[in-house]
Amino acid sequence: MVNMTMQNLEQILPDAERDFAACATIQDLEQAKARYLGKSGLLTEQLKGLGKLSAEERPAAGASINVVKQGVEEALKARRDAILDAEQAEQLSNESIDVTLPARDQGKGGLHPVTLTMHRLEQIFHSIGFEVAEGPEIESDYYNFTALNIPEDHPARAMHDTFYIDADHEKQAHVLRTHTSPVQVHYMENKTPPLKIIAPGRVYRVDSDATHSPMFHQVEGLWVDENISFANLKGVVQDFLQRFFERDDLEVRFRPSFFPFTEPSAEMDMSWNGGWLEIGGCGMVHPEVFRHVGIDSEKYRGFAFGLGVERLTMLRYGVNDLRLFFNNDMRFLQQFG
Ligand code: FA5
Repeated sequence: MVNMTMQNLEQILPDAERDFAACATIQDLEQAKARYLGKSGLLTEQLKGLGKLSAEERPAAGASINVVKQGVEEALKARRDAILDAEQAEQLSNESIDVTLPARDQGKGGLHPVTLTMHRLEQIFHSIGFEVAEGPEIESDYYNFTALNIPEDHPARAMHDTFYIDADHEKQAHVLRTHTSPVQVHYMENKTPPLKIIAPGRVYRVDSDATHSPMFHQVEGLWVDENISFANLKGVVQDFLQRFFERDDLEVRFRPSFFPFTEPSAEMDMSWNGGWLEIGGCGMVHPEVFRHVGIDSEKYRGFAFGLGVERLTMLRYGVNDLRLFFNNDMRFLQQFG
């Protein structure tokens, strides 16, 4: 069993080098990388296999795997650099600029569709009495997680694919905020109820496909007062969405869910073209969050919600791939004027 594993291990680096060399684009390379270093990649499987070894065998086997892993990472970096160099060289040779040409009319500049949504939602929430609050995009672990009732070993941390930005990953002291919920904490620390705010802004997660971007926007809502109930939450969200989409017939559905910082918690779906689409999470502020910010949870209640701003923009304009927002293609952007 051990020999078999060692044999496989020895083969991994040459295989990876051959696979990487065959990649012509960064996308191909990312796929090849996943085969070795991804969640169920060959090396990851090897590391998982360590658990099956005896305590005496484990250190040597672990060290051998790490040597191979390092080799694979180096090969990956070398190939990535080579691809980027080649792409740049090709771009430079294709882009010869004739500086004597007269300027071309690029049309008028306009606001980005996500910015248009942000302005629109601020305006609507403002008209129903919400003030706009802001918080930092680089957050301490405390505000992003702990104060929101997500202690260090809580499984909910794994739900957020977090960008850690400290050299010392062990301490995980600073992160790019994974959601706008930490703004709730900053705001409640400094103010006394009644509080009624939205917090729109950029958030970051290690996540990328047609409906997930590593940088995206959320808008947080928070209303704390003596008699706030789930009915208020439902009313506010429904009112907002009907006005945002200019559709009186639009319905909102609340599905029971879990967030450590709200209890009860729900996921919000919106009726759309005969079906339901998830637009965000919400719930009643958890007493533990109130405790962290020194608000008396016997006296005050609150609701909070977090909506995906790109998701709202995609629905409003019928865009089906979120990556279009970030490609900077003028033909796409000019449609929003
Ligand atoms: C949260 O982030 C919670 N903070 C929301 C919340 C706030 C709950 C207050 C309770 C009280 P979630 O991870 O589900 O929840 O994200 C909320 C929304 O952000 C999602 O419904 C989705 O619309 C959007 N979203 C999440 N990840 C991405 C991504 N990578 N790209 C674009 N939008 C995303």
